[in-house]
Amino acid sequence: MHNLNDPQLLKSFSYINGSWHSSASDIAVNNPATGKLVAKVSNAGIAETELAVQAAKAAFKAWSAKSANERSALLRTWFNLMMANQEDLGRILTLEQGKPLAEAKGEIAYGAAFIEWFAEEGKRVYGDTIPAPSGDKRIVVIKQPIGVVAAITPWNFPNAMIARKAAAALASGCTFVVRPATQTPLSALAMAELAERAGIPAGVFNVVVGDDARGMGKVLTEHEDVAKFTFTGSTGVGKSLISQCASTVKKVSMELGGNAPFIVFDDADIDAAVAGALVSKYRNAGQTCVCTNRILVQEGALVQFTEKFVAAVKDLVLGNGLDEGVTIGPMISAQAVGDVKRLIDDSINQGAQLALGEDDSKLGDSKLGDSFLAPTILTGVTNDMSIAHNEIFGPVSPIISFKTEAEAIAIANDTEFGLASYFYSRDIGRIWRVAEGLDFGMVGINEGLISNAAAPFGGMKQSGNGREGSKYGLDDYLEIKYLCMGGLDQ
Ligand code: SIN
Repeated sequence: MHNLNDPQLLKSFSYINGSWHSSASDIAVNNPATGKLVAKVSNAGIAETELAVQAAKAAFKAWSAKSANERSALLRTWFNLMMANQEDLGRILTLEQGKPLAEAKGEIAYGAAFIEWFAEEGKRVYGDTIPAPSGDKRIVVIKQPIGVVAAITPWNFPNAMIARKAAAALASGCTFVVRPATQTPLSALAMAELAERAGIPAGVFNVVVGDDARGMGKVLTEHEDVAKFTFTGSTGVGKSLISQCASTVKKVSMELGGNAPFIVFDDADIDAAVAGALVSKYRNAGQTCVCTNRILVQEGALVQFTEKFVAAVKDLVLGNGLDEGVTIGPMISAQAVGDVKRLIDDSINQGAQLALGEDDSKLGDSKLGDSFLAPTILTGVTNDMSIAHNEIFGPVSPIISFKTEAEAIAIANDTEFGLASYFYSRDIGRIWRVAEGLDFGMVGINEGLISNAAAPFGGMKQSGNGREGSKYGLDDYLEIKYLCMGGLDQ
């Protein structure tokens, strides 16, 4: 089915306590490129979510008691299985999410890299000794897994956003319950199948799929037995989940919306800037939190950058992600296309010009449905237009021109978001000034693709809190415990 080498990877039930749970009704998972049914998945709800939390709680004692090396070996086996099944996992991901197959396989490798990274990093959960204020005492700091972790993950990276959280949680000794997006549950369930094959014990990694977002979210955020909650998604939803977590004072980490500026200074290598903007903007059809949202170009470079960028974007091939040669897939839904089209129309009504749009697209072989939006470029955009202050989450590049470095930094920071930012310059003094002046958790300097397992991914301001990946990625899953040993002078 669906040309998978291993059809057993296509699952249709939630995975709770090491077994597959069916429910009374189903959710249809449709291919956004064709609108056709990919698979039906059992529609779990509050009861199954409660079961998953109980399973994670029961499994915590034994899992946290394992040595870091034992957990590492299991995680590495999981990583190996993900990579061995990269082709099938990529195909499942393209079928349910739409991104081109090469990009989907890239996401599998990206997700697996977090599992490999944390398999190693889990061995380095070091404590501390601190000089005590008196001779009869010793101060020791140990770190312990926080307990049951609950997660809600988005449809734009159906594999990697789970892997990034679960790997850190499991490596730290925590157990894990995730509710993946209902549009893309198949990648999550395939990960569960491979976790089971890797020998990860029952109850340690649980996946509950269901469309009762409110009810299941309430269990995951308000349950007394969940110690930590982590979410990737919009800032609006993140805010209400944070407030739900307040009732039990849970530790939370949030990876929320972005409004990334991409600044091109006059002294930049323009070809490099064009290549960086292309990948940063059009990866996943513009549907990532770190996607460039505004391109700011200094006046002296404006004509050259715009001409070259328009030519490069024109070469993207729009189509079904499974078709050969397609480099940009559909958006997640026709509704998402409608939302982005409204932002384009608003910008044009407010005075922007369409430098590239529907009529200029190169198309793949398949007939395109209403989930497709052609890569678009708008010029003459100004900072007072609505597109400059909204997360576009689609394949649209608004180009804003500026005169001075100070003006660029001011425009870039004029947003409540603070996730990713990018700039291109060859002036070392400017590089430091701008890097330090940008109020964003991540800064790409002469680089458009900044995400990797070794680096701390996360935002400032209303883009969230906590960091994922890197050595810092374990902190969110660990409690610091201070031991004061007294009476040592007798
Ligand atoms: C996201 O869009 O939330 C994640 C993007 C990434 O990991 O690069």
